[in-house]
Amino acid sequence: MAVLDQLTSQQAIDLENKYGAHNYHPLPVVLSKGEGVYVWDVEGKKYYDFLSAYSAVNQGHCHPKIVGAMVNQAQTLTLTSRAFYNDMLGKYEKFATEYFGFDKLLPMNTGAEAVETALKICRKWAYEVKGINENEAQIIVCKNNFHGRTTTIISFSNDPVARKNFGPFTEGFIKIEYDNLQALEEALENNNNIAGFMAEPIQGEAGVYVPSEGYLAAAKALCEKHNVLFIADEVQTGIARTGQLLAVNHEDVQPDILILGKALSGGAYPVSAVLANDDIMNVIKPGNHGSTFGGNPVAAAVAIAALEVVKDEKLAENAERLGEIFREELAEFAKENELVTLVRGKGLLNAVVINDTEDSSTAWDICMKLRDNGLLAKPTHGNIIRFAPPLVMNEEQLRDCINIIKKTITEFKK
Ligand SMILES: Cc1ncc(COP(=O)(O)O)c(C=O)c1O
Repeated sequence: MAVLDQLTSQQAIDLENKYGAHNYHPLPVVLSKGEGVYVWDVEGKKYYDFLSAYSAVNQGHCHPKIVGAMVNQAQTLTLTSRAFYNDMLGKYEKFATEYFGFDKLLPMNTGAEAVETALKICRKWAYEVKGINENEAQIIVCKNNFHGRTTTIISFSNDPVARKNFGPFTEGFIKIEYDNLQALEEALENNNNIAGFMAEPIQGEAGVYVPSEGYLAAAKALCEKHNVLFIADEVQTGIARTGQLLAVNHEDVQPDILILGKALSGGAYPVSAVLANDDIMNVIKPGNHGSTFGGNPVAAAVAIAALEVVKDEKLAENAERLGEIFREELAEFAKENELVTLVRGKGLLNAVVINDTEDSSTAWDICMKLRDNGLLAKPTHGNIIRFAPPLVMNEEQLRDCINIIKKTITEFKK
């Protein structure tokens, strides 16, 4: 068999199992093509993608404008490293900072790298601007968070599977309950060493937990009162997914530090970024931080195109409108189907909670049936199925998907 021979699904799965590290547990489907809201497996079966690569493919698979920008730039200049300037990075930085309303942007590649970057900026700000004694800064985070997989990030995770046997861990984090303002107030009071508070505006990986209305605005106000930076991790919630450009926009909150990833490239290329104003970002000096690929010309071209698509195609408005339909229809369905406890979410980031114990395989088994019926979704923590299609979906397609979901769950037998 030649390296690039066409494989059957089973052959592709066997190769990954034999030669790849087993760090994921994928649904058994092998995809070889994508376009808009659809993906195809190697046998040619067509599916609705209802995960969008964890909300990276908001602009739809292989968006021609994004792919075009990528190909064009790839044929011109791919990588210079930051040892030299390139003629795309500055254009992208100007475009993206004006787009999101910040003074400066620091480019990275993956979500976890951007989170690491935000934490480093926050600590440095704490020592050099706020005046905390060296090595004493603390950052408040939330229980059940998901911010990525690096050693520092898992240091403040409370997912035992993500942490077990990866210690020793990084110090300097205080964990409080999510969506609990009193807990935040208590953590901030009588502690002059707090540098920042980092949160997901909706906890995605934990199971799409939407905080109470007003939580983000009140948390930001508390941070301001205590001279603490409010860091929003919008890697999953950002860039139109929840029906606004950013999920914090639902409460008119401007974070001190904004973390973006995933859909910043429409899923075409790994692009992430941290945005902040000068009073914060200027603590970073040459040599303090960086990445060989961060800010490369292909990433810059791709991100500009991806952000333009979001505005040109009114993806936030579409997510808002279709999300309402999705939740209304499934909430109605939940009333008459005992397998569905509830549906929650914002825009097109939604979850259906399955009525079974956390350790049962019901959500997984339903996802297998959804797959058979032409729709791909994946369970997240506990017995919860996340539904997050590309935001380029139209109403007819969404209603078709709702019918597939209802039919699959109605016919499902444990
Ligand atoms: C909120 C949030 N932050 C950070 C990350 C990490 O991003 P990446 O997988 O690109 O490192 C994720 C990934 O799912 C995420 O949902």
